[in-house]
Amino acid sequence: MCGIVGFTGEDTALPILLDGLRRLEYRGYDSAGVATAASGALHTCKNPGKIAALTAKTETQPLPGGTGIGHTRWATHGGPTEANAHPHFDGDCGIAVVHNGIIENYRELRAALLAEGVCFRSETDSEVLPHLFRKHYRGRLLDAVRAALDEVQGAYALAVICADEPGVLVGARQGSPLVVGIGDGAHYLASDVQPLLPHTRQVIYLGTGELCELTPDTCHLETLAGGVVPLRIETAGQDEAAADKAGYPHFMLKEIHQQPAVLERLLGAYTQDDRVVLPELGGIAEALPAIRRIQIVACGTAWHAGLIGKYLIETFARVPVEVDVASEFRYRNPVLDSDTLVIPVSQSGETADTLEAVRLAKAAGAMVLGVINVPGSSIAREADGLLYLQAGPEIGVASTKAYTAQIMVLALFALQVAALRGMMDAKAVAQHLVEMRGLPGKVQWAIDRAPAIEAIARLPRYAQARNAMFIGRGFNFPSALEGALKLKEISYIHVEGYAAGEMKHGPIALVTDGIPVVCIATQGPVYDKLASNIQEIRARNGHVLSIATEGDAEIAEVSDDVIHVPPCTDAFSPLVVASPLQLFAYYVALALGRDVDQPRNLAKSVTVE
Ligand code: AGP
Repeated sequence: MCGIVGFTGEDTALPILLDGLRRLEYRGYDSAGVATAASGALHTCKNPGKIAALTAKTETQPLPGGTGIGHTRWATHGGPTEANAHPHFDGDCGIAVVHNGIIENYRELRAALLAEGVCFRSETDSEVLPHLFRKHYRGRLLDAVRAALDEVQGAYALAVICADEPGVLVGARQGSPLVVGIGDGAHYLASDVQPLLPHTRQVIYLGTGELCELTPDTCHLETLAGGVVPLRIETAGQDEAAADKAGYPHFMLKEIHQQPAVLERLLGAYTQDDRVVLPELGGIAEALPAIRRIQIVACGTAWHAGLIGKYLIETFARVPVEVDVASEFRYRNPVLDSDTLVIPVSQSGETADTLEAVRLAKAAGAMVLGVINVPGSSIAREADGLLYLQAGPEIGVASTKAYTAQIMVLALFALQVAALRGMMDAKAVAQHLVEMRGLPGKVQWAIDRAPAIEAIARLPRYAQARNAMFIGRGFNFPSALEGALKLKEISYIHVEGYAAGEMKHGPIALVTDGIPVVCIATQGPVYDKLASNIQEIRARNGHVLSIATEGDAEIAEVSDDVIHVPPCTDAFSPLVVASPLQLFAYYVALALGRDVDQPRNLAKSVTVE
C-alpha cells in the first residue's frame, strides 16, 4: 500500500517530507519521491528503492520551498522505476500529484487524454490525475481537482500542489485513508497519523468523498459536490514511540516481545473483578442475546484469528459462526439479515476487502462489531460497535501482537456472549478469567526461550529448506495456518499449513526425505491424533519439529526437535503457541538475510483490492 505526506508552512518542506516518508516505511514500498513548489515552479526528486537513497539524492539536488508532497509507492500498475515513482506531473510540470489507491477507469481516461495530445511519462494509472487536473484548471487548484475527480472511478487518497498557487496543498479522499494535521502556521497531510505526531496531535480524518485545501494558515474542507464540511478536529491518540525500535533490531521482534503487556492491557481494559466488561459494544450489547448467527470476515493473519474466534464462540456460547476471507465474502452474495452479527477483524482497519465487506453487511441490515487496532480507521468509523485491540501501532508487516490481541479479544467476547445468553454462569466465567489472567505470563515464558528457538531455526534442516509444512488440529489448526503464513511471508520459503487430519487426503504425498513438518501437538483432546500424524511423517523421513507442552517426554521421543510451551487450557493454547511460531519464522528469515520488517512484495495494510 502506498504512503502519502504533504506539508505547507514557513519551514522548508523537504526534511519534513522525508521524515514523514520514513515514518510510513512500515507500509511496504518499492520506490519513493518528493516534489516542492517554489518561485513559480515545481521541483522534484524520485528514486526506485529505499527512502535512504532518495534522501541521499536530494542532498546533491536540494528542493526549495515551503510547500510539498511525498510518496512511497507499492507498485500496482508498472514496475518500480523512476518514471513510475510518484509524484506525477501534467505536461507543463505545473501540477504534481501523489496517489494511493487504484483508478479503475484509467484506461479510458488515458485513451481520451492521448487523443487530446497528452504525452504520458509512466505506465501508471495515477498519471492520468495531473493531466486531468490541468485540463480542468481555471485558476483554483481545488476546483480543478473536484471537477476532474468527477471523471474518476476507483479508490484514492491524493495530495496535489501547483506551481501557480504557492502555499496551497490540496488533498482528496475516496476510500484510501488521508489525515490532515493542524499545525501552528502550518498544515500537514498523511496517509495515517504517524508522520504527523512529531508536529501535531490535532488531526482531521478526511471522510470518503471529501477534499481539503490547506495553506500555512487556513484549512478548508468540502465535499466532491462542493458543499462545505465542518472541521472535525480530533486529538490523535497513537503513541509516537511506536515509530521507534526501542533497541530491538527489528519492529517485528519488538512487537513479539510486547505481546504479554498487550494481553495484560486487554484483560485490564475488558474485565472487572470476575466479569467481562466490553464498553464499546454500542447497541450491539442489547442485541447479543437474540443474535442467530455470527459472520466473521477478515484477511490473512486476521482471518486466522477469526477462525480461532469461531472455535471460541461456538465452544463457549453455542452460537453458529461462519468465517470468510473478506475477498471471497464480498463477492459470494452471502446470506445476511438483521439477525446476523458481522465481525470484521482487522489490525489496520483499512483493508479494502474487509472494509467493503463491512459496507455489504450494513447494506443488508446486519450489525457490525469491529475488532480493530487503529482508532479512527475506516472500519472503526463505520462499525456499529468496537472491540479495540489496544495493541499500539504495529509497524512490522508480519502481524504478531495484533494477532494474539485479536484472539484475546475474541475469547473475551465469546465469554460475554455465553454469559448474556445464559450458556455460562458467572462462576464459569470467573474460572475462565482466572485461567486467562495467567496467559500473559505463559506467553512471556515461551518468549523467554527465544535463544533455544533461534538455535533450532538456524539449523540447515529449517533455514535451508525449500519447502515446509505446518499441521495442527482443533483450536490449533488455525495456529498451523498462521505459523505457515509467518514463515512464508518473511523467509520466502514455500510453506503450507494444513489441518492434520487432512494429511492422508493428499498433503502427505509431499512428505519425503528431510521436509520439515512443524506439528502443533500441545496437550489436549486431539493430542493422540497429532501423535499418530507425527509417526506417519517420521515413517516417511520427514523432519518433525513439535510444539509440545513442557514436560511431554513422549513427543520428544518421536520428534527431531521440540519447542516447549507451558501447559494451558486447550481453548487458549493458540495464544501460547503463537510467539514460538513467530520467533521461529523470525530467526529463519534472519538466517536467510531477509528484510524482516518489510518483506518483498508485501504492504502493511492492503488498501487496494
Ligand atoms: C499478516 O502477517 C500479513 N501482514 C497480512 O496477512 C495481514 O494480516 C492482512 O493483510 C490483514 O491486515 P489487517 O489486519 O490490517 O486487515
